[in-house]
Amino acid sequence: MTFLKNFIETGSEIREHISTLENKEQRIGYTGMGADGTLTSRLDKLAEDKIIERINDIDLPFNIISEEIGFVDRGYDSNIIMDPLDGTYNAENQIPLYSMSLAVMKDDFTSLQEAFVMNLATGNYFWATKGNGAYRNGYRIEKAERRSHASVVYNLEETEVPEFLKNDITRKRILGCASMELALLANGALDNVAYLGREKKLRNVDIAAGVLLVEEMGGFVFDGNLKKMNMGKDVRERKNMIALSSFYKGEIEELEN
Ligand code: IPD
Ligand code: CA
Ligand code: CA
Repeated sequence: MTFLKNFIETGSEIREHISTLENKEQRIGYTGMGADGTLTSRLDKLAEDKIIERINDIDLPFNIISEEIGFVDRGYDSNIIMDPLDGTYNAENQIPLYSMSLAVMKDDFTSLQEAFVMNLATGNYFWATKGNGAYRNGYRIEKAERRSHASVVYNLEETEVPEFLKNDITRKRILGCASMELALLANGALDNVAYLGREKKLRNVDIAAGVLLVEEMGGFVFDGNLKKMNMGKDVRERKNMIALSSFYKGEIEELEN
């Protein structure tokens, strides 16, 4: 509960701060190079600083793995792996879907324990602990009764994808915030989220929390080779992803045979 309470508060603070930045010059601009090898924007830095300050203030028993700062060894076995601001382009341009995304794990995704994703534009948040299902704003997410027939698909044309997916894309939505795309899949708004193509895009920090949210709702997250998604602690590693709701259980069993 300490984890949840503190990150709801920190997310709300970041959200309030960003919402006061009406002027484009206050929102857009770079402060340096991040540990993942991409530029750190002003808003990325603002969010990361606030979260790290909170972790230090209340002395949470975790190391930190974060998109901008990289690995901070605080002398613990477990890590908070986070993307302080996922969907920077959306945030800078006031497209209302950008998040703070964080999870707790040891060395890789097989040990994911907790997940928290807050949409910083609305304040809605998603939370999961391993083995206990997933929650939205404090309410347990019920499994959807029927499919949404909505998909997020990046670069479908460029690559070989399983037939069942190719033939199954009707409502396309590309939202520019990987953690929220996975949270929306967990919440039943999307059936699948696929990041495909030659240029692999996703890093551990983008998806750690989303993977646990989807799995806690009985869904599946694979890499581009249809192997169960796993990533370690290196923020520079990139992968493709195919995430599917629990409605694909049959197709997955067929693939495995
Ligand atoms: C990006 C978003 C976006 C995804 C990119 C990510 P950032 O993260 O998650 O949806 O398509 O691959 O890099 O840079 O805004 O934190
Ligand atoms: Ca990101
Ligand atoms: Ca980011």
